[in-house]
Amino acid sequence: MTARNIDGVALSAQVRGEIAQRAAELTAQGVQPSLAVILVGGDPASAVYVRNKVAGCEKTGIRSLKFEYPADAAPEEVFAKIAELNADPSVHGILVQLPLPKQFDADKVLEAISPEKDVDGFHAENFGLLLQGRKSFYPCTPWGVMKMLDTEKVEIKGAEAVVIGRSNIVGKPMAVMLLARGATVTVCHSQTKDLAFHTKRADIVVAAVGRAKFLTGDMIKPGAVVIDVGINRLPDGKLCGDVDFDSAREVASLITPVPGGVGPMTITMLLANTVESAERAAK
Ligand code: GUN
Repeated sequence: MTARNIDGVALSAQVRGEIAQRAAELTAQGVQPSLAVILVGGDPASAVYVRNKVAGCEKTGIRSLKFEYPADAAPEEVFAKIAELNADPSVHGILVQLPLPKQFDADKVLEAISPEKDVDGFHAENFGLLLQGRKSFYPCTPWGVMKMLDTEKVEIKGAEAVVIGRSNIVGKPMAVMLLARGATVTVCHSQTKDLAFHTKRADIVVAAVGRAKFLTGDMIKPGAVVIDVGINRLPDGKLCGDVDFDSAREVASLITPVPGGVGPMTITMLLANTVESAERAAK
């Protein structure tokens, strides 16, 4: 079997079209959706992500505000900016790009953001609501994955799903969202003793470990759906995922490529959360 690709670029374009329409309707009512992005330090990967987020806003009619601080910025300065943005009714989403320099306590920074404007879905209150199956903001990457699975009509109810990775940003919320939809979920991580034992019986595998070409075809159940959240840079400068694409696609039924898979969906769902926040504010 050779797997079919799930095209994150095409799906993103479609979803962004719907987002642009909602943004235009809000703007016509006098409420232009607006996202504030805070970047601290000069991490090149973070700078690229932030640039892509701002570009995504521009293309969908969302106003973007970018605040940049040097790597040695005082946390108080960033907290003051967050407080100002929390109080500004024209701002609907606030995002602090991670990772932060070491003088910052990232949890405290994320919790300084008003939960109503936490379009990343990282605030402890929103994460708690997600765990309880109550509506908050879905974290963007797992939500993008769910959108891909739904678009491809992948049966989630009753499926064996294996999530590799237990980060707060991807692995944990991904597991919770699959669980909420009726999958039987196993979360594997760096301490898992026999990873292949778990992945080989999974109907859906989500790899989010940050290790290039880590999940190989021999670890995958024939016909499985393979979702690759990893973005790793190889020594030759090329991007690759956590999945060894060439061997995995011989075994899987559906697979996401890197680049062009989950990556574009993450930013798309951030834009969707920003518009949703503006819709809630306009009510
Ligand atoms: N760093 C890596 N991914 C993300 C993300 O989705 N949001 C933020 N704020 N920082 C990140």
